[in-house]
Amino acid sequence: MVAKRLPELFLLTAALSLLAGVAMGLSMGATHDYALRPVHAHTNLVGWVSIALFGLTYRGYRTHIRTSAATLHLFVSAASALLFPLGLWLELSMGEARLIAAASLLWLLACLQYLAFVVRITRAPADEA
Ligand code: HEM
Repeated sequence: MVAKRLPELFLLTAALSLLAGVAMGLSMGATHDYALRPVHAHTNLVGWVSIALFGLTYRGYRTHIRTSAATLHLFVSAASALLFPLGLWLELSMGEARLIAAASLLWLLACLQYLAFVVRITRAPADEA
């Protein structure tokens, strides 16, 4: 069940990030305090835009999905969507940079996993695409 729904789970993760990012944007607008705008921007751009594109790519090439690799990619992406903005917040508000450093590497891993899938579909015979 979960394996069959992997693209949709990416989209669900993305939609939850969008909700968090938009709530943060509304709160910044209401308070006129824009200090944490990079946290807002990355919640939307890492969490919503990038992860939704991952999900749409998997959805478009469902038959090429390797369940174990895509499940790991989902976990790494979802963890990054949470830890990257949290790490930025810690750095901007307390000068604590260790989490953002770790989360950046985690996000790099998610991007490499995406690259691996795109290479996989690029190398598939054209009539299978
Ligand atoms: C209801 C929805 C949203 C609200 C109310 C909102 C509000 C804001 C506010 C108040 C700022 C700071 C502006 C300033 O510094 O003068 C901002 C910056 C930004 N927002 Fe949003 N936003 C929303 C949705 C989005 C979405 C969906 C994205 C991306 C897909 C996005 C990306 C950004 C970016 C890239 C910045 C600039 C960050 C920076 O300068 O460091 N926002 N937004």
